[in-house]
Amino acid sequence: MYIKRLTVRNVGPHKKLDIQFKCGLVGIVGKNGCGKSTVVNLLYAVLTNDFGRFEGVKADCINNQSNPDDKAFAEIEVEHNNVSFLVRRSLRPNKSVFAYMDDLKTEITSSDKIAEELKKILGVDSGVLDRFVFKQQHLIYDFLAATDGERKKAFQKLCGTEHCETIWLALGKFVASNSTSNQSLTDNSDQLLTNIAQLQAENQQHQDEIEKHKSFLLSQKTLLTIEAILNASVTLKAAQIQSDELQQKITATTEKLGNAQELLTEEKDYENKVREKFNKYKEKIKVASSTKTAWGQYEAATTKKSVAVARLTKAETELDKLKIDSPCLSFDADEYAELVKQRAQKLHRKSELDRVLQKFETTGLTQCPTCLTSVTSLHEHIKTYRSEHDELKTWCESANQTIAKMELAQRTLKTYEQNLQQATAAHNAAKQVVDSIDVPDQPELSKEEALKIIAKHEEFEKMLKDAEAQTNIRETAVTRASSVLSTCQNQFEDVQAKIRENSVIGSGSKTYTITDELVVSVKEKRAKHNQIFPEITRWETLIEANNKTINRYEQDLENLRLAVKRNKKMKQLLELLEQVREVVHRDRLPNLVAVANMERMEDGINDNLAKFGSPFWVETSQEDLAFIVHKPGEPPQAAGRLSTGQKVILAISFWLSLASVVGLLALDEPTANLDEENRSFLAEALSSLSTKISGHRQIIMVTHADNLRGCFDQIVTLG
Ligand SMILES: Nc1ncnc2c1ncn2[C@@H]1O[C@H](COP(=O)(O)OP(=O)(O)OP(=O)(O)O)[C@@H](O)[C@H]1O
Ligand SMILES: [Mg+2]
Repeated sequence: MYIKRLTVRNVGPHKKLDIQFKCGLVGIVGKNGCGKSTVVNLLYAVLTNDFGRFEGVKADCINNQSNPDDKAFAEIEVEHNNVSFLVRRSLRPNKSVFAYMDDLKTEITSSDKIAEELKKILGVDSGVLDRFVFKQQHLIYDFLAATDGERKKAFQKLCGTEHCETIWLALGKFVASNSTSNQSLTDNSDQLLTNIAQLQAENQQHQDEIEKHKSFLLSQKTLLTIEAILNASVTLKAAQIQSDELQQKITATTEKLGNAQELLTEEKDYENKVREKFNKYKEKIKVASSTKTAWGQYEAATTKKSVAVARLTKAETELDKLKIDSPCLSFDADEYAELVKQRAQKLHRKSELDRVLQKFETTGLTQCPTCLTSVTSLHEHIKTYRSEHDELKTWCESANQTIAKMELAQRTLKTYEQNLQQATAAHNAAKQVVDSIDVPDQPELSKEEALKIIAKHEEFEKMLKDAEAQTNIRETAVTRASSVLSTCQNQFEDVQAKIRENSVIGSGSKTYTITDELVVSVKEKRAKHNQIFPEITRWETLIEANNKTINRYEQDLENLRLAVKRNKKMKQLLELLEQVREVVHRDRLPNLVAVANMERMEDGINDNLAKFGSPFWVETSQEDLAFIVHKPGEPPQAAGRLSTGQKVILAISFWLSLASVVGLLALDEPTANLDEENRSFLAEALSSLSTKISGHRQIIMVTHADNLRGCFDQIVTLG
């Protein structure tokens, strides 16, 4: 792996930083506080999303002089095993992005998915990057200072052996469970073979029975022929019975038809005779009918006339009576008018007198209001008036009576005249009616004779109708009998045809005449077949069931064989797994791998130490994964006893050897505790290292050591 580019905006002390990294040895230099460690820590943080190497929380990493709207992020472009990708951790807004360089449009933004993708590409997780790749200043020689257990854990992580225990336990479980199931298998093959042989013997017996009885079985074709013969015999029997019945019915119906025809002839003769008689009366009936009508008209006119004459007689009587009873009264109209006129005049005078008399006689006046004459002097006048008044009163009463009498006479006369007028009119009308009625002459033929002829005619007419109805009945009887006869004859023909059809039947090329003997023989054959058939079917079913059981036993036998084979293999496998378990054992394999790696690295470390001009070399201790330091002329000693400077040199040599894991090593000021001499050695070592790793790996080193500048393939100066 090597970092190709780092782009930073507003993170830590960096407001805007763009670095294009090269492969090989890269030095990052600059004054204190210019942000060198920040660069290394950001490379780690962008790859792992772990910002724990910075002070405070992630948001505190945003450059404190940036505007609140400014974006803050760090982005790296990385190449590993010819795969290029970029990762960006944005702090404002908070977001993570991963994309392959050849497909920048397809972005992964979930932090978990990015971690998975990186693990897939790099083959290591953030733990390895933290511990072995991006080394912080104060942890440069932590590997040497760590306890045995920590070193082992670190190596387990580095070598991927931390799951050995899980595998060891899982294998143990698998071996344990399969060992027991393997033992439980029992070999019952001899029993299975005995069972199969028994069933096969049974089947042979059934087969023998079938063969013995097979000859009684009839073919499907024969069964169908038997069925056809039996059906034909049944139909034939029924048809013969029907034929006999029909024959009887035809004889009876023929007789019935003859009788009916005879009766019809008789009836027709009678009808003709009656018709002859009826026809004779046809001429007579015309005259008799008109005579009857004429008699009716004559009698009606006669009756009408006699009623009219009676009315006329009554009118004459009434008129004569009026004439005899006429009132002997007279009424003089002039006299009556004169009397009415006088009465009016006298009544007028009387009323004048009434008024005067009333004024003077009843009011008690003493003098006349008009001429003021004293009443006493008028007394004579009043007397005269009173006498005149009384006379007038008497006259008027008499006149009233006379007038009343005259008015009564006038009214009586008027009524009489009206009655006379009405009686005269009624008499004239009755006379007119009598005159208007014309009575025809009496018919020549007597009424009795005519009625007799009509009655006779009606009698013959009824007789004829009865005779015709009777003839119809007879005709219907004949028709019905003929119809029944013809139906019977048709049915008889059909039955005869059926008899012919069912007397002989064909089956294939053979023909069979249906006889009682034939029917008995085929019935016997069929009965035998029906008796044997279920038996054979039962034997066949038993054979089939046995065959199924045999198959099952054979299958069990095969399964047993397979199980035995599988068991053998399983046994081998379990033995093998036991061996694997031995190897994978938690105390063994991780240690073996770690020691193997340490031993593999040993030469590289010692080479690097030699390049540093170190006076000591190291050997790996298999027990605690520590280094045993060898110094010329001195006994071997633990690496922990070295001076700080010597520890740094050993650590750098160690980390440089380890860089092969991911191809990248980032060291923050590894030279801090080195004296001038050691720094020179380091510079020399780095120079020779640079030529070896260039183009393959990348070592990024933060340093203040000026003498190292010459060894770097690229120097990045900050600040
Ligand atoms: N959020 C921030 N905003 C601005 N400056 C910051 C922020 N966080 C840290 N700094 C500054 O960054 C500097 C520390 O950066 P860093 O440790 O990378 O420097 P360095 O170059 O490694 O220094 P040295 O050589 O001493 O190790 C300090 O000056 C600190 O004030
Ligand atoms: Mg620093």
